[in-house]
Amino acid sequence: MNDTPPKPLRSQAWFGKADKDGFIHRSWMKNQGIPHDAFDGRPVIGICNTWSELTPCNAHFRELAEYVKKGVYEAGGVPFEFPVMSLGESNLRPTAMLFRNLASMDVEESIRGNPIDGVILLVGCDKTTPALLMGAASCNLPALAVSGGPMLNGRFRGREIGSGTGVWQMSEEVRAGTMTQAEFIEAESCMNRSRGHCMTMGTASTMASMVEALGMGLPHNAAIPAVDARRQVLAQLAGRRIVDMVREDLTMSKILTREAFENAIRTNAAIGGSTNAVVHLIALARRIGVPLSLDDWELGSDVPCLVNLQPSGQHLMEDFYYAGGLPAVLRQLGEHGLLHRQALTVNGKTIWQNVEDAPNYNHEVITPLDQPFKPKAGIAVLRGNLAPDGAVIKPSAATPGLLSHRGRAVVFENVEELHEKIDDESLDIDEYCVMVLKGAGPKGYPGFAEVGNMPLPKKVLQKGITDMVRISDGRMSGTAYGAVVLHVSPEAAAGGPLALVQTGDMIELDVAARRLHLDVSDEELARRKAEWKAPPLPERGYYRLYVEHVLQADQGADLDFLVGASGAAVPRDSH
Ligand code: FES
Repeated sequence: MNDTPPKPLRSQAWFGKADKDGFIHRSWMKNQGIPHDAFDGRPVIGICNTWSELTPCNAHFRELAEYVKKGVYEAGGVPFEFPVMSLGESNLRPTAMLFRNLASMDVEESIRGNPIDGVILLVGCDKTTPALLMGAASCNLPALAVSGGPMLNGRFRGREIGSGTGVWQMSEEVRAGTMTQAEFIEAESCMNRSRGHCMTMGTASTMASMVEALGMGLPHNAAIPAVDARRQVLAQLAGRRIVDMVREDLTMSKILTREAFENAIRTNAAIGGSTNAVVHLIALARRIGVPLSLDDWELGSDVPCLVNLQPSGQHLMEDFYYAGGLPAVLRQLGEHGLLHRQALTVNGKTIWQNVEDAPNYNHEVITPLDQPFKPKAGIAVLRGNLAPDGAVIKPSAATPGLLSHRGRAVVFENVEELHEKIDDESLDIDEYCVMVLKGAGPKGYPGFAEVGNMPLPKKVLQKGITDMVRISDGRMSGTAYGAVVLHVSPEAAAGGPLALVQTGDMIELDVAARRLHLDVSDEELARRKAEWKAPPLPERGYYRLYVEHVLQADQGADLDFLVGASGAAVPRDSH
């Protein structure tokens, strides 16, 4: 029998007092029609909501929150929904990634400063997931993430089109003259036709899968479509469960262990997940105090890709759910020694207990591990004199023949120059060249933009060529594909060797050897470095704070002063 007295609820530091402070905290809350006994020591659950009509992927979250609330009440808790900064990938400029860390600060301080015992994180569009996990991790209360779910499959003139991936494909078709402008416009409403986030295995679906693989979400969090009633059931069950997590004091650090991150890395390979997960998981691990480096991503490099989903494959998230969803993938990893089976999850069970009987209903969508969709699908970490602190490539999304390549660099100093010159007939470029883009990294853009999958030159496209080696210090949308080397560290704006590359230099990419080499002598590079000048800092505001403090990609691109945690101790009162 456990004689340990239950830990006092932190919300009682607000609501449990008989003095004027208690009056103030309770009385103002009562203007929402809340009875007095709501403050009698029941777990208070925050519902951290990234709802916004400017974040279309999360626009249904007010309704989803109502299901969470039902569950919280059923379990004897009291729910309070609160807004935090929402990050919509399709609208927010210059890039939603610039604000991931800002949103995480909003989340952290909103949780810590309020009478909250446990928190549900409502996440969906790409950056909302890492932002909320990171902010909550720095408080380390019991937390459970609920993803909003993917959209239904896109359908256009009899063919399936995936959000993001279809845009890249069709825009190249328009440029190549094989699709009309009218068809392109018609496809807009055919692609994104229901609520939910991108339904390819892009960053949103990848991060929803990471939530599940890390143990931070309930089984099937990743794939239930947003419009499927089972998504609402999952939200309600999450509401019930978080109340018990508070009673059990099941804090985030008990779930986010080194084993959980290793499970997530291997899962990312098995689902053909986004390269963006690399940056987000490293940043999250550093918040919760788990050592995780870029090189740890090699843990997934021998793991085959089991899931045949766009952008690496053919199908979409709706198909993935009907096939069995992430539990069917995790089960296979567990059966082949690729999963730490004892890792704890939010429902109080180990990850293995959650998935050991998971069925696979469609072996074309979720392939067997001994006959995988793609062998060795993980993210490869490259190093060399062009990327001393590392760079990444997703080999499964690249043309195999380009994974070992030597070519002449064609350099674009920034994304504006790329757009200005790429279709210029006089540009001296062919499919054997290596496209190099600078100024897309955390400091350089600023904000670490998703521009690494550069459009190919029109004259190359017109030959029927669809892939070239591209290298940048930027990121790539999880829905994109190609022989694209990303996250080159240090970035050009931080004075990394990428800044010194000139058109005409020879570059060698050898993914099997994990090598990225600029074939220029050290003496010549030193001469170029002496002439290099750092770009000016932004004048003011968050941009200034960000550029002064952002860490490089290999360290998760967090702000240096946000690494780590401050816990959930109750701040002093000002009344
Ligand atoms: Fe929101 Fe893709 S734009 S998930």
